[in-house]
Amino acid sequence: MPSLSTVKASNASYASHLLQSASTPVAIFIGGTAGIGEATVKALANYLHGNVHVILVGRTREPGERVLRELVKPSPSPGEKQDIGVIREFIPCDVSLMSSVDKMCLEITKLLESRLKTTAPPKINYIFFSANHSNLWGGHRWTEEGIDKQLAVRYYHRFKTTFKLMPLLRNAKDKGEDARVVSILASGITWWFDEDDFGFKKSSGLGLVLKGVNTNMVAAVYNDLMVESFADHNPGISFTNSMPGMVSTDNALHAFTIPFRAHWILKPLELFFFWIWILIFIKPEDSAQYHLYDLFQADEGREPERSGGEKKGKFYRRSRFGDDLGYRYHRKDQEVLKRRFWEHTTKVTELVE
Ligand SMILES: NC(=O)c1ccc[n+]([C@@H]2O[C@H](COP(=O)([O-])OP(=O)(O)OC[C@H]3O[C@@H](n4cnc5c(N)ncnc54)[C@H](OP(=O)(O)O)[C@@H]3O)[C@@H](O)[C@H]2O)c1
Repeated sequence: MPSLSTVKASNASYASHLLQSASTPVAIFIGGTAGIGEATVKALANYLHGNVHVILVGRTREPGERVLRELVKPSPSPGEKQDIGVIREFIPCDVSLMSSVDKMCLEITKLLESRLKTTAPPKINYIFFSANHSNLWGGHRWTEEGIDKQLAVRYYHRFKTTFKLMPLLRNAKDKGEDARVVSILASGITWWFDEDDFGFKKSSGLGLVLKGVNTNMVAAVYNDLMVESFADHNPGISFTNSMPGMVSTDNALHAFTIPFRAHWILKPLELFFFWIWILIFIKPEDSAQYHLYDLFQADEGREPERSGGEKKGKFYRRSRFGDDLGYRYHRKDQEVLKRRFWEHTTKVTELVE
Protein backbone atom coordinates (compact mmCIF):
# COMPACT_ATOMS: atom_id res chain seq x y z
CA MET A 1 0.00 0.00 0.00
CA PRO A 2 1.98 3.04 -1.20
CA SER A 3 1.73 6.20 0.91
CA LEU A 4 0.42 9.42 -0.63
CA SER A 5 3.94 10.88 -0.76
CA THR A 6 5.25 7.73 -2.53
CA VAL A 7 2.37 7.98 -5.01
CA LYS A 8 3.11 11.66 -5.71
CA ALA A 9 6.81 10.98 -6.22
CA SER A 10 5.99 8.10 -8.56
CA ASN A 11 3.52 10.28 -10.53
CA ALA A 12 6.08 13.08 -10.86
CA SER A 13 8.68 10.63 -12.11
CA TYR A 14 6.34 9.11 -14.73
CA ALA A 15 5.19 12.57 -15.84
CA SER A 16 8.78 13.70 -16.38
CA HIS A 17 9.29 10.62 -18.57
CA LEU A 18 6.17 11.61 -20.58
CA LEU A 19 7.48 15.16 -20.96
CA GLN A 20 10.62 13.81 -22.66
CA SER A 21 8.47 12.35 -25.44
CA ALA A 22 8.03 14.27 -28.69
CA SER A 23 4.30 13.51 -28.66
CA THR A 24 1.63 15.25 -26.56
CA PRO A 25 -0.75 12.80 -24.87
CA VAL A 26 -4.48 12.88 -25.59
CA ALA A 27 -6.75 12.35 -22.55
CA ILE A 28 -10.54 11.97 -22.54
CA PHE A 29 -12.36 12.52 -19.24
CA ILE A 30 -15.96 11.33 -19.19
CA GLY A 31 -17.47 12.84 -16.05
CA GLY A 32 -14.63 15.30 -15.51
CA THR A 33 -16.81 18.32 -14.79
CA ALA A 34 -16.91 17.67 -11.03
CA GLY A 35 -15.62 15.52 -8.18
CA ILE A 36 -12.85 12.98 -8.63
CA GLY A 37 -12.77 13.40 -12.43
CA GLU A 38 -12.24 17.16 -12.12
CA ALA A 39 -9.48 16.69 -9.54
CA THR A 40 -7.78 14.04 -11.70
CA VAL A 41 -7.78 16.05 -14.94
CA LYS A 42 -6.33 19.02 -13.05
CA ALA A 43 -3.62 16.87 -11.47
CA LEU A 44 -2.71 15.38 -14.86
CA ALA A 45 -2.44 18.84 -16.45
CA ASN A 46 -0.31 20.04 -13.48
CA TYR A 47 2.15 17.15 -13.79
CA LEU A 48 2.46 17.66 -17.55
CA HIS A 49 2.77 21.48 -17.27
CA GLY A 50 -0.34 21.77 -19.44
CA ASN A 51 1.19 19.68 -22.25
CA VAL A 52 -1.78 17.39 -22.68
CA HIS A 53 -4.76 17.47 -25.03
CA VAL A 54 -7.94 17.29 -22.95
CA ILE A 55 -11.51 16.52 -23.99
CA LEU A 56 -14.07 16.68 -21.18
CA VAL A 57 -17.51 15.10 -21.37
CA GLY A 58 -20.46 15.87 -19.09
CA ARG A 59 -24.07 16.96 -19.27
CA THR A 60 -23.56 20.62 -18.48
CA ARG A 61 -21.36 23.00 -20.43
CA GLU A 62 -20.71 25.70 -17.82
CA PRO A 63 -18.79 23.56 -15.27
CA GLY A 64 -17.05 21.76 -18.13
CA GLU A 65 -15.74 24.99 -19.60
CA ARG A 66 -14.78 26.28 -16.14
CA VAL A 67 -12.66 23.17 -15.48
CA LEU A 68 -10.98 23.55 -18.89
CA ARG A 69 -10.22 27.23 -18.20
CA GLU A 70 -8.70 26.31 -14.85
CA LEU A 71 -6.31 23.72 -16.30
CA VAL A 72 -2.65 24.69 -16.31
CA LYS A 73 -1.72 26.18 -19.66
CA PRO A 74 1.39 24.98 -21.48
CA SER A 75 4.29 27.31 -20.73
CA PRO A 76 7.35 26.15 -22.63
CA SER A 77 10.67 27.05 -21.09
CA PRO A 78 14.14 26.43 -22.53
CA GLY A 79 14.69 22.72 -22.96
CA GLU A 80 11.01 21.91 -22.60
CA LYS A 81 8.51 21.08 -25.31
CA GLN A 82 7.07 23.95 -27.32
CA ASP A 83 3.49 25.08 -26.84
CA ILE A 84 1.82 23.18 -29.67
CA GLY A 85 -1.65 24.63 -29.08
CA VAL A 86 -3.21 21.96 -26.95
CA ILE A 87 -6.83 20.87 -27.32
CA ARG A 88 -9.22 21.98 -24.56
CA GLU A 89 -12.71 20.92 -25.62
CA PHE A 90 -15.97 20.19 -23.85
CA ILE A 91 -18.47 17.78 -25.41
CA PRO A 92 -21.95 17.71 -23.87
CA CYS A 93 -23.44 14.23 -23.51
CA ASP A 94 -25.88 12.46 -21.23
CA VAL A 95 -24.05 9.16 -21.01
CA SER A 96 -27.08 7.34 -19.64
CA LEU A 97 -28.38 7.30 -23.26
CA MET A 98 -26.54 4.93 -25.57
CA SER A 99 -27.66 6.92 -28.64
CA SER A 100 -25.95 10.01 -27.16
CA VAL A 101 -22.84 7.96 -26.43
CA ASP A 102 -22.72 7.03 -30.13
CA LYS A 103 -22.81 10.71 -31.10
CA MET A 104 -20.24 11.66 -28.48
CA CYS A 105 -17.77 9.02 -29.74
CA LEU A 106 -18.23 10.23 -33.31
CA GLU A 107 -17.69 13.82 -32.21
CA ILE A 108 -14.48 12.93 -30.33
CA THR A 109 -13.16 11.01 -33.35
CA LYS A 110 -13.92 13.88 -35.78
CA LEU A 111 -12.44 16.46 -33.42
CA LEU A 112 -9.20 14.53 -33.09
CA GLU A 113 -9.06 13.88 -36.85
CA SER A 114 -9.32 17.58 -37.57
CA ARG A 115 -7.10 18.89 -34.74
CA LEU A 116 -4.32 16.28 -34.82
CA LYS A 117 -3.67 16.37 -38.57
CA THR A 118 0.08 16.69 -38.09
CA THR A 119 0.24 13.54 -35.99
CA ALA A 120 -2.19 11.48 -38.10
CA PRO A 121 -3.66 8.98 -37.60
CA PRO A 122 -5.52 10.46 -34.59
CA LYS A 123 -4.93 8.72 -31.29
CA ILE A 124 -6.15 8.55 -27.73
CA ASN A 125 -3.70 7.75 -24.95
CA TYR A 126 -5.96 7.85 -21.91
CA ILE A 127 -9.68 7.48 -21.25
CA PHE A 128 -10.98 8.13 -17.73
CA PHE A 129 -14.52 7.30 -16.66
CA SER A 130 -15.93 8.95 -13.54
CA ALA A 131 -19.56 9.86 -14.35
CA ASN A 132 -21.69 9.03 -11.35
CA HIS A 133 -25.34 8.28 -10.77
CA SER A 134 -26.66 6.87 -7.50
CA ASN A 135 -30.30 6.16 -6.86
CA LEU A 136 -30.53 3.53 -4.14
CA TRP A 137 -34.18 3.89 -3.17
CA GLY A 138 -35.90 6.37 -5.52
CA GLY A 139 -38.17 5.72 -8.50
CA HIS A 140 -37.63 6.62 -12.18
CA ARG A 141 -34.93 4.06 -12.64
CA TRP A 142 -35.24 3.38 -16.38
CA THR A 143 -33.80 5.47 -19.17
CA GLU A 144 -35.99 6.21 -22.18
CA GLU A 145 -34.02 3.45 -23.94
CA GLY A 146 -35.21 0.94 -21.32
CA ILE A 147 -31.89 0.51 -19.48
CA ASP A 148 -31.48 0.74 -15.70
CA LYS A 149 -30.08 4.26 -15.27
CA GLN A 150 -27.54 3.35 -12.61
CA LEU A 151 -26.18 0.56 -14.79
CA ALA A 152 -26.13 2.89 -17.82
CA VAL A 153 -24.00 5.51 -16.04
CA ARG A 154 -21.93 3.19 -13.89
CA TYR A 155 -21.32 0.49 -16.50
CA TYR A 156 -22.88 0.30 -20.00
CA HIS A 157 -21.66 3.65 -21.37
CA ARG A 158 -18.13 2.85 -20.18
CA PHE A 159 -18.16 -0.36 -22.22
CA LYS A 160 -19.70 1.28 -25.26
CA THR A 161 -17.33 4.26 -25.27
CA THR A 162 -14.25 2.06 -24.83
CA PHE A 163 -15.42 -0.23 -27.63
CA LYS A 164 -16.16 2.64 -30.04
CA LEU A 165 -12.93 4.54 -29.31
CA MET A 166 -10.76 1.42 -29.44
CA PRO A 167 -9.36 2.24 -32.93
CA LEU A 168 -7.92 5.49 -31.54
CA LEU A 169 -6.41 3.70 -28.53
CA ARG A 170 -4.89 1.20 -30.99
CA ASN A 171 -3.38 4.08 -32.96
CA ALA A 172 -1.61 5.26 -29.78
CA LYS A 173 -0.44 1.72 -29.08
CA ASP A 174 0.86 1.35 -32.67
CA LYS A 175 2.91 4.52 -32.20
CA GLY A 176 4.52 2.86 -29.16
CA GLU A 177 2.75 5.24 -26.77
CA ASP A 178 0.61 4.70 -23.68
CA ALA A 179 -2.87 3.35 -24.48
CA ARG A 180 -4.82 3.07 -21.23
CA VAL A 181 -8.39 3.09 -19.94
CA VAL A 182 -9.25 3.77 -16.29
CA SER A 183 -12.78 3.32 -14.98
CA ILE A 184 -13.22 4.95 -11.59
CA LEU A 185 -16.03 2.99 -9.95
CA ALA A 186 -15.18 0.28 -7.40
CA SER A 187 -13.30 -2.98 -7.68
CA GLY A 188 -12.91 -6.25 -5.81
CA ILE A 189 -16.53 -6.36 -4.63
CA THR A 190 -18.58 -9.56 -4.63
CA TRP A 191 -22.31 -9.05 -5.28
CA TRP A 192 -25.19 -11.27 -6.27
CA PHE A 193 -26.63 -11.16 -9.81
CA ASP A 194 -28.81 -13.37 -11.99
CA GLU A 195 -26.84 -14.57 -15.02
CA ASP A 196 -30.06 -14.78 -17.00
CA ASP A 197 -30.88 -11.17 -16.15
CA PHE A 198 -27.67 -9.11 -16.07
CA GLY A 199 -29.73 -5.95 -16.78
CA PHE A 200 -32.00 -6.47 -13.71
CA LYS A 201 -35.13 -6.29 -15.86
CA LYS A 202 -36.95 -9.17 -14.21
CA SER A 203 -36.63 -7.99 -10.59
CA SER A 204 -39.80 -8.47 -8.58
CA GLY A 205 -40.95 -8.52 -4.94
CA LEU A 206 -38.05 -7.85 -2.54
CA GLY A 207 -35.71 -7.85 -5.54
CA LEU A 208 -37.60 -4.84 -6.88
CA VAL A 209 -37.37 -3.02 -3.53
CA LEU A 210 -33.61 -3.68 -3.46
CA LYS A 211 -33.03 -3.07 -7.17
CA GLY A 212 -31.43 0.35 -6.57
CA VAL A 213 -28.94 -1.13 -4.10
CA ASN A 214 -28.29 -4.13 -6.33
CA THR A 215 -27.61 -2.22 -9.55
CA ASN A 216 -25.52 0.34 -7.67
CA MET A 217 -23.28 -2.36 -6.20
CA VAL A 218 -23.22 -4.88 -9.03
CA ALA A 219 -21.77 -2.23 -11.35
CA ALA A 220 -18.47 -2.78 -9.52
CA VAL A 221 -18.51 -6.47 -10.50
CA TYR A 222 -19.48 -5.55 -14.06
CA ASN A 223 -16.58 -3.08 -14.34
CA ASP A 224 -14.20 -5.80 -13.11
CA LEU A 225 -15.49 -8.14 -15.82
CA MET A 226 -15.29 -5.36 -18.39
CA VAL A 227 -11.62 -4.50 -17.84
CA GLU A 228 -10.65 -8.15 -17.95
CA SER A 229 -12.61 -8.87 -21.13
CA PHE A 230 -11.28 -5.82 -22.96
CA ALA A 231 -7.75 -6.85 -21.98
CA ASP A 232 -8.39 -10.34 -23.37
CA HIS A 233 -9.32 -8.84 -26.73
CA ASN A 234 -6.73 -6.05 -26.94
CA PRO A 235 -3.07 -6.88 -26.47
CA GLY A 236 -0.89 -3.83 -25.89
CA ILE A 237 -3.66 -1.75 -24.26
CA SER A 238 -4.30 -1.68 -20.50
CA PHE A 239 -7.63 -1.50 -18.69
CA THR A 240 -8.08 -0.60 -15.03
CA ASN A 241 -11.03 -0.56 -12.65
CA SER A 242 -10.12 1.78 -9.84
CA MET A 243 -11.68 1.97 -6.37
CA PRO A 244 -11.81 5.48 -4.91
CA GLY A 245 -13.02 4.55 -1.40
CA MET A 246 -14.89 7.33 0.40
CA VAL A 247 -14.08 10.67 -1.23
CA SER A 248 -15.43 14.02 -0.02
CA THR A 249 -16.85 15.25 -3.32
CA ASP A 250 -19.78 17.70 -3.19
CA ASN A 251 -22.16 15.12 -4.61
CA ALA A 252 -21.08 12.44 -2.12
CA LEU A 253 -21.63 14.90 0.75
CA HIS A 254 -25.06 15.74 -0.63
CA ALA A 255 -26.01 12.06 -0.98
CA PHE A 256 -24.82 11.09 2.50
CA THR A 257 -26.64 13.97 4.21
CA ILE A 258 -30.04 13.39 2.58
CA PRO A 259 -31.32 11.35 5.58
CA PHE A 260 -30.50 14.23 7.98
CA ARG A 261 -32.65 16.59 5.94
CA ALA A 262 -35.75 14.43 6.31
CA HIS A 263 -36.71 16.03 9.69
CA TRP A 264 -35.32 18.86 11.85
CA ILE A 265 -34.93 16.45 14.77
CA LEU A 266 -32.21 14.64 12.80
CA LYS A 267 -30.26 17.86 12.22
CA PRO A 268 -27.84 17.44 15.19
CA LEU A 269 -26.79 14.10 13.75
CA GLU A 270 -25.53 15.97 10.70
CA LEU A 271 -22.86 17.60 12.87
CA PHE A 272 -21.82 14.18 14.13
CA PHE A 273 -21.66 12.98 10.53
CA PHE A 274 -19.31 15.80 9.59
CA TRP A 275 -16.80 14.53 12.19
CA ILE A 276 -16.95 11.07 10.63
CA TRP A 277 -16.64 12.72 7.23
CA ILE A 278 -13.43 14.46 8.24
CA LEU A 279 -12.02 11.25 9.73
CA ILE A 280 -12.74 8.69 7.03
CA PHE A 281 -13.23 10.53 3.75
CA ILE A 282 -10.28 11.51 1.61
CA LYS A 283 -10.06 14.75 -0.37
CA PRO A 284 -10.73 14.60 -4.14
CA GLU A 285 -7.22 16.04 -4.72
CA ASP A 286 -5.63 13.11 -2.84
CA SER A 287 -7.93 10.61 -4.53
CA ALA A 288 -6.81 12.06 -7.89
CA GLN A 289 -3.18 11.28 -7.03
CA TYR A 290 -4.09 7.62 -6.53
CA HIS A 291 -6.06 7.47 -9.79
CA LEU A 292 -3.14 9.00 -11.70
CA TYR A 293 -0.91 6.43 -10.02
CA ASP A 294 -3.32 3.72 -11.23
CA LEU A 295 -2.99 5.18 -14.74
CA PHE A 296 0.76 5.64 -14.77
CA GLN A 297 1.39 2.17 -13.27
CA ALA A 298 -0.92 0.44 -15.76
CA ASP A 299 1.80 -0.91 -17.99
CA GLU A 300 0.26 -2.34 -21.18
CA GLY A 301 2.60 -5.33 -21.28
CA ARG A 302 4.34 -4.51 -24.54
CA GLU A 303 5.47 -8.15 -24.68
CA PRO A 304 1.95 -9.55 -24.34
CA GLU A 305 1.53 -12.25 -21.73
CA ARG A 306 0.81 -15.64 -23.15
CA SER A 307 -2.02 -17.58 -21.70
CA GLY A 308 -2.91 -20.78 -23.47
CA GLY A 309 -0.99 -19.51 -26.49
CA GLU A 310 -3.24 -16.45 -26.75
CA LYS A 311 -1.99 -12.86 -26.76
CA LYS A 312 -3.76 -10.74 -24.16
CA GLY A 313 -3.69 -7.18 -22.92
CA LYS A 314 -3.31 -6.22 -19.28
CA PHE A 315 -6.01 -5.52 -16.76
CA TYR A 316 -5.78 -4.08 -13.29
CA ARG A 317 -8.23 -3.94 -10.43
CA ARG A 318 -6.95 -1.37 -7.97
CA SER A 319 -7.83 -0.90 -4.31
CA ARG A 320 -8.36 2.64 -3.01
CA PHE A 321 -4.64 2.78 -2.21
CA GLY A 322 -3.42 1.63 -5.60
CA ASP A 323 -2.81 -2.05 -4.77
CA ASP A 324 -3.54 -4.43 -7.66
CA LEU A 325 -6.06 -7.09 -6.63
CA GLY A 326 -4.93 -9.38 -9.46
CA TYR A 327 -7.04 -12.47 -9.81
CA ARG A 328 -8.69 -12.19 -6.40
CA TYR A 329 -12.45 -12.94 -6.51
CA HIS A 330 -12.11 -14.84 -9.78
CA ARG A 331 -14.71 -17.56 -10.21
CA LYS A 332 -14.04 -21.07 -11.42
CA ASP A 333 -16.28 -20.42 -14.42
CA GLN A 334 -14.83 -16.93 -15.05
CA GLU A 335 -14.25 -17.51 -18.77
CA VAL A 336 -17.85 -18.66 -19.37
CA LEU A 337 -19.19 -15.76 -17.30
CA LYS A 338 -17.08 -13.23 -19.22
CA ARG A 339 -18.26 -14.57 -22.56
CA ARG A 340 -21.94 -14.50 -21.58
CA PHE A 341 -21.60 -11.05 -20.10
CA TRP A 342 -19.78 -9.71 -23.17
CA GLU A 343 -22.59 -11.02 -25.38
CA HIS A 344 -25.20 -9.41 -23.10
CA THR A 345 -23.42 -6.05 -23.11
CA THR A 346 -22.81 -5.84 -26.85
CA LYS A 347 -26.53 -6.61 -27.34
CA VAL A 348 -27.76 -3.96 -24.89
CA THR A 349 -25.36 -1.32 -26.21
CA GLU A 350 -26.05 -2.29 -29.83
CA LEU A 351 -22.43 -2.92 -30.73
CA VAL A 352 -21.47 -5.03 -33.71
CA GLU A 353 -18.13 -6.82 -33.56
N1 LIG B 1 -17.15 9.97 -4.08
C1 LIG B 1 -17.12 8.78 -3.50
O1 LIG B 1 -17.05 8.66 -2.26
C2 LIG B 1 -17.18 7.53 -4.34
C3 LIG B 1 -17.18 6.30 -3.69
C4 LIG B 1 -17.20 5.13 -4.45
C5 LIG B 1 -17.19 5.21 -5.84
N2 LIG B 1 -17.18 6.43 -6.45
C6 LIG B 1 -17.17 6.45 -7.92
O2 LIG B 1 -16.19 7.34 -8.40
C7 LIG B 1 -16.64 7.97 -9.60
C8 LIG B 1 -16.59 9.48 -9.42
O3 LIG B 1 -17.38 9.84 -8.31
P1 LIG B 1 -17.56 11.37 -7.88
O4 LIG B 1 -17.94 11.36 -6.43
O5 LIG B 1 -16.42 12.17 -8.36
O6 LIG B 1 -18.83 11.75 -8.73
P2 LIG B 1 -19.55 13.18 -8.83
O7 LIG B 1 -18.87 14.21 -8.02
O8 LIG B 1 -20.96 12.89 -8.54
O9 LIG B 1 -19.26 13.58 -10.35
C9 LIG B 1 -20.07 13.10 -11.25
C10 LIG B 1 -19.64 13.54 -12.63
O10 LIG B 1 -20.43 12.73 -13.43
C11 LIG B 1 -21.06 13.53 -14.40
N3 LIG B 1 -22.33 12.90 -14.75
C12 LIG B 1 -23.30 12.45 -13.92
N4 LIG B 1 -24.32 11.93 -14.62
C13 LIG B 1 -23.97 12.05 -15.93
C14 LIG B 1 -24.61 11.71 -17.14
N5 LIG B 1 -25.82 11.13 -17.17
N6 LIG B 1 -23.97 11.99 -18.30
C15 LIG B 1 -22.76 12.57 -18.29
N7 LIG B 1 -22.10 12.90 -17.17
C16 LIG B 1 -22.71 12.65 -16.00
C17 LIG B 1 -21.23 14.90 -13.73
O11 LIG B 1 -21.26 15.91 -14.70
P3 LIG B 1 -22.60 16.68 -15.15
O12 LIG B 1 -23.41 16.90 -13.93
O13 LIG B 1 -22.08 17.90 -15.83
O14 LIG B 1 -23.24 15.77 -16.12
C18 LIG B 1 -19.94 14.97 -12.94
O15 LIG B 1 -18.88 15.47 -13.74
C19 LIG B 1 -18.04 7.45 -9.87
O16 LIG B 1 -17.98 6.39 -10.78
C20 LIG B 1 -18.49 6.94 -8.51
O17 LIG B 1 -19.41 5.89 -8.61
C21 LIG B 1 -17.18 7.59 -5.73
